[in-house]
Amino acid sequence: MEHFAYQDGLLFCDGVSIAEVSQQYGTPIYIYSEHAIRDNFRAFSDAFAEVNPLICYALKANYSLAVCKILREEGAGFDIVSGGELFRALKAGADPKKICYAGVGKTRSEIEYALNSGILMFNVESGAELDRISAIASNLGTRADLALRLNPDVDPHTHKYTTTGKKWTKFGIGFDAAAGLVQRIKDMPLVHLVGLHVHLGSPINSPEPYRRALDLMLDFLESCREQGAQIEWLDVGGGYGIEYKGGETADLADFAQAIIPAVKRSGCRAILEPGRCIVGNAAVLVTRVQYVKETGEKKFVICDAGMNDLIRPALYDSYHRVWPVSSAEPVPYGAEALDAKTGGRVVVDIAGPVCESADFFAKDRPLPPVRQDDLLAVFSAGAYGYSMSSNYNSRPRACEVMISGGSARLIRPRESHEQMVADERF
Ligand SMILES: Cc1ncc(COP(=O)(O)O)c(C=O)c1O
Repeated sequence: MEHFAYQDGLLFCDGVSIAEVSQQYGTPIYIYSEHAIRDNFRAFSDAFAEVNPLICYALKANYSLAVCKILREEGAGFDIVSGGELFRALKAGADPKKICYAGVGKTRSEIEYALNSGILMFNVESGAELDRISAIASNLGTRADLALRLNPDVDPHTHKYTTTGKKWTKFGIGFDAAAGLVQRIKDMPLVHLVGLHVHLGSPINSPEPYRRALDLMLDFLESCREQGAQIEWLDVGGGYGIEYKGGETADLADFAQAIIPAVKRSGCRAILEPGRCIVGNAAVLVTRVQYVKETGEKKFVICDAGMNDLIRPALYDSYHRVWPVSSAEPVPYGAEALDAKTGGRVVVDIAGPVCESADFFAKDRPLPPVRQDDLLAVFSAGAYGYSMSSNYNSRPRACEVMISGGSARLIRPRESHEQMVADERF
């Protein structure tokens, strides 16, 4: 089902008018479809049902408590990368035994917090981290279960800033070093190696990188077992691509086809850590046009949302569909979106108010003519949108609204100027 759709020239989310919600709560505003979040989770879960994986939602993609709670209700566990994310997951009612903890820089206090909370496992990223976990577990007299996060040197063919499975990145442990750690763990009385983990990067639009990484992981798994390690979990990470433009990614069935046979061969239970494909297409960011500006060189549509609200285009050169909330024609997909000849479209840069030339949502984009005070929807904004937002230029963060059962519910009010400075001292 299409959760964001045009009816009679106006954009609706599950039957609720985007224009009315934006008018009521103001702009910029993130508008989520609860129905879409649940559908996406169920579609993911169904695609992998044959191996009954533990699905640990990567809450870095969107950490809002309302979103986490919906996913917890759906049965999700959580993939976390900080003490703050652990706090959020628990606050949303997560079962600690469904939480796995990755990240290259876990501090002592974060490790203690996770051990005291009884999480399922750490995904360990270095020998030094392993030593630290072992020492803290001994101090606390607590068992620490862990997986080794492997770096298979496999290219996920995505932006270099979101590539994590290649050797030149800071993530994971190469196979030779990991083999040494498997030995060392044997002398750590409270540390138990229960899994192997990999996360190649994000977004990944083809199943091939997973296939290659899993082949390498299974060879390594065999050698671990030969050394007596009792590995129960195979954590394949996240990264599953979504359609930002239209038609650019494999679908879930393709990813499942690459992953399921390897999981079966491993004899382990799988952990999967999807983030983007659960929430990415479950939200739009709505912004109001402030000015249309022509410089002689170019035409700019200047909006009230900026890179502080959605940094992906600036940081990763990412593509988001942007389209007027009021439009006789629905937002075009794929190559059509770049066609400047249809329907009197005008080629514009869609930019924000932030004092950076990187502050844009789209460059040289054909758009129907828009005017001051028109609303624009930035699509596929649910993942790494609000969660990467900031107060840059002292701009209060946007509000968030959830559309559920035919009505809109504020899940996070717009930040006020007062709130931005409330904890500061001078
Ligand atoms: C360890 C780990 N797991 C899972 C994810 C989620 O990736 P995605 O949102 O693309 O599914 C990330 C994202 O960076 C990650 O670092």
